[in-house]
Amino acid sequence: MASFGISLRMSQSQTIVLGIETSCDETAASVVVRDGAGHGRILSNVVRSQVEEHAAYGGVVPEIAARAHVELLDGIIVRALADAGLGFADLDAVAATAGPGLIGGVMVGLMTAKAIAMVHGLPVIAVNHLEGHALTARLTDGVAFPYLLLLVSGGHSQFLAVEGVGTYRRLGTTIDDALGEAFDKTAKLLGLPNPGGPNVERAALAGDATRFAFPRPMLGKGRLDFSFSGLKTAVRNAAEAIAPLRDVDVADLAASFQAAVTDIIAQKSATALADFARDTGQQAPTLVVAGGVAANKAIRSALTATTEAFGADLVVPPIALCTDNGAMIAWAGLERLATGDISGQGDMDMPARARWPLDASASPKLGSGRLGTKA
Ligand code: KG4
Ligand code: ZN
Repeated sequence: MASFGISLRMSQSQTIVLGIETSCDETAASVVVRDGAGHGRILSNVVRSQVEEHAAYGGVVPEIAARAHVELLDGIIVRALADAGLGFADLDAVAATAGPGLIGGVMVGLMTAKAIAMVHGLPVIAVNHLEGHALTARLTDGVAFPYLLLLVSGGHSQFLAVEGVGTYRRLGTTIDDALGEAFDKTAKLLGLPNPGGPNVERAALAGDATRFAFPRPMLGKGRLDFSFSGLKTAVRNAAEAIAPLRDVDVADLAASFQAAVTDIIAQKSATALADFARDTGQQAPTLVVAGGVAANKAIRSALTATTEAFGADLVVPPIALCTDNGAMIAWAGLERLATGDISGQGDMDMPARARWPLDASASPKLGSGRLGTKA
């Protein structure tokens, strides 16, 4: 089908977009307004986590996620509009995640957005979920281009140079597990419940981080690429060697694991900042951290030290906006609209995509956007 030939009803002063997010196990919708000066304001942000639906399975089950999105999404959109005090007639466009992510869920959200757009005569914007994460700091903190992004979530661990809307250069990525995934797998083998990251962090508080000398993979090699699967194996071997685990062992293993990943993130970030500063000529670049792992206090404080030592700024959006949400999708749609060109993303025949790298020129790596993982 050809491009959706409905002109924008944007007023000069402000633009209002409904954003829909269904790419993993959060069903989310949000209404965001952008004023003529480019400032964003969240009018509503409704997120329904499906943690309970998936709890019994120890991970996200794609089919269950897709079915839950079907059941929940319409009610969540109605609530997002009600919270914003608006109706469909007040919207200028509808944005939805079109990938990467679990394909069933992405299809539910994208088709819903297309249906709303068609019925109400609105443009639809197919948003790359990773672009949503990448641009959130501009909504929350008005960060100017270019900046360095560390995206650490359940499905991705990447450094990206964010040069403009639609212009992303991948500087490094994981070659196996994502960092959130490494936290989740470590939690599982320590017998800690889902979600793994916060529970490993909690257990680590009482632990001795020096008891186990876990490897810091890829610190010398690959410069800005990550590898976490060897670390996970080292934790498993150490745990098996002292099984059955007492509480103190779990705490020490969690603390030693967290110390290793914190070192890796801090050191790689220092290298990435140096590269980014050299490439851009910026003396005091900004490092933005996004994704669920940004909630980790040990990692945050290590990054605070790294950026301070470099003379760089650190921006970590509020955690509710680092994890998956509809506001980041609405904002990415608004940013696209503001460029005046939504070609390629504003067509009614935009497909749902399981894979959709932000930097299409970067060579594919196993851990950089796998099928069936969180983004
Ligand atoms: O961004 P997110 O909510 O979902 C996507 O992956 O898109 O990230 C979820 C990931 C999970 O792997 C979770 O264990 C991890 O973020 N996470 C944490 C913490 N909170 C969430 N990892 C370490 N420490 C935390 N406090
Ligand atoms: Zn995400």
